[in-house]
Amino acid sequence: MISTLTQVTPETLSEIESEKQLRHTRELFLLFAMGSQFDHLIKLALDRLGVYCLVADPEQVTAAGVMKLNPTGIIVSGGPSSASDNPPFDLSVFDLGIPVLGICLGFQMWAAHRGARVGAAAHREFGRHPLKLTVDSPLFAGIQSGSQVLQSHGDRIEPSPSIEVLATTDNAPVAAGHLRHLWGVQFHPEVTAGEDGLRLLENFVFGICGAQDRFPAGDVAGLKAKDIRAQVGNKRVLLALSGGSDSSVVAALLTKALKPGQVRAIYIRGIDRPDDEAFVRQYFSHLDLHIHDATAEFLKALAGITAMHDKRVAMRGIYKQVLETEAAKFKAAFIAQGTLYTDLTESGGGHQSGARKAQIKLHHNANLGFSVPELTPLDDMVKDTARAIGRNLGLPEELLVRHPFPGPGLIVRIEGEVTADKLHIARQADGIFIEELRRAGLYESSWQAGAVVTTSGHTFTKGDDAGTGLVLALWAVWSTNGFTVEWAELPYDFLRHVSRRLTNEIREVAAVVYRISDKPPATVEWG
Ligand code: XMP
Repeated sequence: MISTLTQVTPETLSEIESEKQLRHTRELFLLFAMGSQFDHLIKLALDRLGVYCLVADPEQVTAAGVMKLNPTGIIVSGGPSSASDNPPFDLSVFDLGIPVLGICLGFQMWAAHRGARVGAAAHREFGRHPLKLTVDSPLFAGIQSGSQVLQSHGDRIEPSPSIEVLATTDNAPVAAGHLRHLWGVQFHPEVTAGEDGLRLLENFVFGICGAQDRFPAGDVAGLKAKDIRAQVGNKRVLLALSGGSDSSVVAALLTKALKPGQVRAIYIRGIDRPDDEAFVRQYFSHLDLHIHDATAEFLKALAGITAMHDKRVAMRGIYKQVLETEAAKFKAAFIAQGTLYTDLTESGGGHQSGARKAQIKLHHNANLGFSVPELTPLDDMVKDTARAIGRNLGLPEELLVRHPFPGPGLIVRIEGEVTADKLHIARQADGIFIEELRRAGLYESSWQAGAVVTTSGHTFTKGDDAGTGLVLALWAVWSTNGFTVEWAELPYDFLRHVSRRLTNEIREVAAVVYRISDKPPATVEWG
């Protein structure tokens, strides 16, 4: 499974063909990710439209490669460079006749390539602005003039005889433009994907590029439910439910496929995020939901262990043991998990970096060797097709688009020995950080974020109190898939506010630091 396309070789072409089959499509969209903080929102939006969107590395995939891939359409995203800096990208991609949607920098790049003047605007435009449509265009079908769009640019495209202006904003005389197969928007439709932005992307994908195949989530859900029924018959199933999107989708499938008494969901408490249990209770209390508090079991198994690898091994042991015990109690003939195809392949879970190779085998929910057979109805799905099934079965978006969370849970966010106190601090810190990201509207644009309890000490003085407290390390990343990530440039005001809350509200915390390293070399998780 290809996470980011770098080379177009016979092998990658054949991998893409098998992925098309998995996704029930004949079509492919390429996203050249130019490094915008919103890149993953473009991918998410295309996933929501049910089309296969492959992220391509602009430094390595050339026009010759694109021709071999024969995509139905191409999106070139925004990014931190200026078109005049010649960002690494083969501009002949714009000359292939394949429909292109340039977003922000992507638009400026093709406009400059086709002779338009692109330069620094007198006013940097940032924030929401009303869009004035100047002509009827298929890109804006169903979108009204006055629609609010998010602008974030310092450069602008000057009017040019060759480019048809489709829309303007106060500071952008060419807020959207068109030249034959080339389409462009200066603003970020992916950020307003819930509103007209998604409609714009849909217009490009289906209207302009003429895509025919959407992932048939309803059909696949129906087939999967039928398979589950055939496999399970009248027997019982224990489902490991975590509050994340994959096991939630399995819960919805099992609900559709089986009779109520046949399914028990087990939620394992102990190394979970502070809001996981609330999500599970909110959306799955109609199931026979059991909460197993395994905190003591985890802590006992983790006592005295400091090496991250050994902590992961210990965690896996408890996870397996709890599920086996609960399955026996329920007389379950199957244990169901939300394991995805990608979890089972080497690229799954993001463990591609050389140093972490051994951990691929340790994926918490793969190859556990239970004494009862496993039911993994999503093991031929990738994240977004699984989400599409969940959406089709009525699961809410807030559940489906939660940040990824590692199977070994908070233990990978605790340095040194895992203790009850440190688990408590890690959970409080995650709660505050994520709550503030949501409040500031930064949750969706960050791909993932976390707080780490380090073993570093720091002197503190709080009121009359003074002593040594601990250092919390925060991180947040922008990414399209977790294989390569950039540290997220969160606003200073935001970081200051979060840091104050963390030091005020968590007694043990003396200082907060923010990680500013990309992957590679640093992995997403601390441990
Ligand atoms: P790394 O830290 O390898 O993480 O850069 C990439 C993505 O994978 C998640 N991750 C895991 N997920 N079991 C999982 O299910 C694990 O052992 C594991 N380790 C890391 C990580 O949170 C990030 O999303």
